[in-house]
Amino acid sequence: MATGIPGKFKNNNVTQRGTALPPLRLEYPGKKPVTEILETPPGQYSPSNTSCGGTNRLYHADNLGVLAALAQDVTIAGKVRLVYIDPPFATASAFHSREQNHAYDDHRVGAEFVEFLRERLVLIHRLLADDGSLYLHLDERMAFHFRVILDEIFGEQGYRNFITRKKCNPKNYTRKTYGNVADYILFYTKSNDYMWNRPVDKWCDLQAKASKEYQYIDKKTGRRYMKVPIHAPGIRNGATGGIWHGMMPPPGKHWQYLPSKLDEMDARGDIYWSPTGNPRRKIYLEDSAGIPVQDIWMDMRDAHNQNIHITGYPTEKNPDILTRIIKASSNPGDIVLDCFSGSGTTLITAAQLNRRWIGVDCSEEAIKTTLHRFEHGSARMGDFVNNHPQETLLPSFKVSDFTLFTKKNKSDSYTVADANTNKTTTASLCRERKALRFQQQAKKKRQVYVHS
Ligand SMILES: C[S@@+](CC[C@H](N)C(=O)[O-])C[C@H]1O[C@@H](n2cnc3c(N)ncnc32)[C@H](O)[C@@H]1O
Repeated sequence: MATGIPGKFKNNNVTQRGTALPPLRLEYPGKKPVTEILETPPGQYSPSNTSCGGTNRLYHADNLGVLAALAQDVTIAGKVRLVYIDPPFATASAFHSREQNHAYDDHRVGAEFVEFLRERLVLIHRLLADDGSLYLHLDERMAFHFRVILDEIFGEQGYRNFITRKKCNPKNYTRKTYGNVADYILFYTKSNDYMWNRPVDKWCDLQAKASKEYQYIDKKTGRRYMKVPIHAPGIRNGATGGIWHGMMPPPGKHWQYLPSKLDEMDARGDIYWSPTGNPRRKIYLEDSAGIPVQDIWMDMRDAHNQNIHITGYPTEKNPDILTRIIKASSNPGDIVLDCFSGSGTTLITAAQLNRRWIGVDCSEEAIKTTLHRFEHGSARMGDFVNNHPQETLLPSFKVSDFTLFTKKNKSDSYTVADANTNKTTTASLCRERKALRFQQQAKKKRQVYVHS
């Protein structure tokens, strides 16, 4: 397979002759200047009755005002390491939960949708740390518009990947088109110097593939290895383009290393010589962390069989996506933001990975689902059919270190269904936190006594 060699010429807005072209823009009626968006009045919020005074924040509000308020908060602005958002996809539909409660409307389409999301993205760019990353999840309706919009906001140099995700099993009912099983995640970073923990699929999870790829065994050491070329495309005039071991590199190629380094590798036994005298480099399995993750994600379908655990919120995403993204683009202690947080997939995954988090959603059903998930986990998909979701909850990872904010002066009564009694409890999270605080204070007192 022939692929182009990545070159230095990367700027699409400069011709080969160096003439600057105006950056590509998406124009549509109603597009606001960036300055106007940055002047969006900040919303005002106060902790709700369900709030427990924790560090992390969950806002029940429209995210535009929240983002504008966060942009003025010195503890947050410029400090968010990672943003993942999964907004409405411009489907012109209304979404309901498994229990048929109205969750949210997705009625904005066309230019109205583009401007709605662009305004939020301009503010998100402000909130990101200089080494921060944005992942925007969309489908084929709007992903390509936002490739252009995000180039405008982050600059072309901020573009990293256009990830294709297989979202579901094959659809056999599409007769006159190809089945649609993909959606897309656009990955941008605020600068070229960004936080990145390179994700790999570990060999220990890919035993069969490992033995197939690393099919040779070194007779002396017993180490598994594969053979790869020792030359690379491109002509060089220096030592790597010259003679090594009495031979020149193949036409149009050069040695990957200086001849002196190749001699060292040969002396160590790291070069394989074919019966016809062709050298190949040995790559050992034990030196490889795994297969670096590529930009097609096939193994992260949303709920696709009866054993998967879900909350029942519509369009809820597979937590494995969030685990991969959060591990790749943040470290423990970093702030992760999802301002279309839905059932709280990003938030609970961030909490499990010891990140701080901020979630926002304007849907009451989303907030109730998130609070329920924080306290009780999620249920096996099959159990929604039998209407007994309580019996098979995931081993709970309780999230209680957060404050729930609502719009100032809005009366609220967030009820969380109790999984065991099926009654609703308004403040069980608070009770739990109070008990924890009490235990900690008691422990401190005991420690003081011991020391004095
Ligand atoms: C596709 S769902 C997100 C699902 C989420 N990723 C999950 O795993 O559950 C989109 C969410 O965006 C929320 N939303 C839409 N417009 C919003 C706005 N202006 N402010 C805050 N939330 C909004 C909806 O209520 C909905 O919960």
